[in-house]
Amino acid sequence: MNYDIANPDLAPQGARRIEWAGRRMTVLKTIRERFLKEEPLKGLTVAACLHVTAETANLMLALRDGGATVTLCASNPLSTQDDVAAALVADNIPVFAIRGEDQESYYRHIHAVLDMEPDITMDDGADLATLLHTERTDLNPIGSTEETTTGVIRLRAMAADGTLRLPVVAVNDSATKHLFDNHYGTGQSALDGIIRATNMLMAGSTVAVVGYGDCGRGVALRASGHGAKVVVVEINPIRALTAAMDGHQVMTADDAARVADVFVTVTGNKHVLRRQHFDVMKDGAILANAGHFDIELDLEVLGEMARDRRPIRNSLEEYELADGRRILVIAEGRLVNLGAAEGHPADVMDMSFSNQAMAAEWLALRAGTLEPGIYTLPEEIDMEVARIKLASLGAGLEELTEEQKAYLSGWREGT
Ligand SMILES: NC(=O)c1ccc[n+]([C@@H]2O[C@H](COP(=O)([O-])OP(=O)(O)OC[C@H]3O[C@@H](n4cnc5c(N)ncnc54)[C@H](O)[C@@H]3O)[C@@H](O)[C@H]2O)c1
Repeated sequence: MNYDIANPDLAPQGARRIEWAGRRMTVLKTIRERFLKEEPLKGLTVAACLHVTAETANLMLALRDGGATVTLCASNPLSTQDDVAAALVADNIPVFAIRGEDQESYYRHIHAVLDMEPDITMDDGADLATLLHTERTDLNPIGSTEETTTGVIRLRAMAADGTLRLPVVAVNDSATKHLFDNHYGTGQSALDGIIRATNMLMAGSTVAVVGYGDCGRGVALRASGHGAKVVVVEINPIRALTAAMDGHQVMTADDAARVADVFVTVTGNKHVLRRQHFDVMKDGAILANAGHFDIELDLEVLGEMARDRRPIRNSLEEYELADGRRILVIAEGRLVNLGAAEGHPADVMDMSFSNQAMAAEWLALRAGTLEPGIYTLPEEIDMEVARIKLASLGAGLEELTEEQKAYLSGWREGT
């Protein structure tokens, strides 16, 4: 078996972490039990490019129980948990991922999983799908799945210019994914990453959240729960108004740059903080990015502005500017929650990865029948994921009476 990981000796520790995460992934467990019986992916190869974490490992095991041959590479060079990679390899799943790998090795690994000629590809950021449309047009999978907002945006751009040649399930668009993973997952884990990297006290500090989408709202909610004053920067008036009504101050990036102690970018956009903002930031300002790619902070410019740079703590680098001010960058501007913490808690990845497993099954059942395009999983699957999760939380779910059903579907009863 081919694989490329940092250290196979870490397997026992990785296996314990996978088991621990698995205990909190109750929906995936239910799906896995059904997959074992029904083997809906029998005979198929699934190549995944996802963050190599304990939660992802549980997804890989579920897909294998579903009958698939699985292989995994990283969707970010800084998010790989080397012990988890080792445990999967010990369990005969080929993994190609090493934490901190350089660009060359990152892409070599992506090619390595594609070399297994997958029937289904799974992406977090559309890296596999992009290669399938550029260097690897020799491959013809049944379809692909996409985990995150940025990946879906890239794929929609491909569909819009007529380039997309595959059916793709936008897992991010399932309510049980983006309303929970992006909001509660990013909210908690981004704060976790900032705190682990800096050990700062959030209470009393000013946190600027740039981008008030599903992720940004979560980050703002948790920062304010820690006692921080939150300022929000948005370009969309409705989202900006929502932030204002949620009790946050809303301002331009230029204004926020002068007042904030910590900046968290979550826009999916490029260079949202750049020279004009670095120029006016306070000494000691801390920059973190929770958006998918490491392009939200213009770190090339910050590097040019710096007269000195040094690592000061794990996952924290200090840039000393020509005028003596220091600006600190967490996890090289890559996803703060994965670079400086452990990513989303298993409880929330449970729902995201249950949708991934269902998406693989959905594609397998429709092999050869789907036109190229972006698909969303049917609402029944979303509801089913939510129902199983609720049951595992011990929550009760009210049901409509016959009278209520009739009332909601009729129009005769009024004032
Ligand atoms: N850290 C994680 O674990 C994690 C999890 C899920 C998604 N993501 C990524 O986070 C990013 C945001 O995801 P989302 O689901 O919240 O997206 P979203 O589209 O719901 O929100 C992004 C927001 O940023 C705003 N925006 C865009 N450009 C801006 C600018 N220049 N200044 C201020 N605001 C701007 C948009 O108006 C939008 O409201 C994406 O890259 C996504 O892939 C990260």
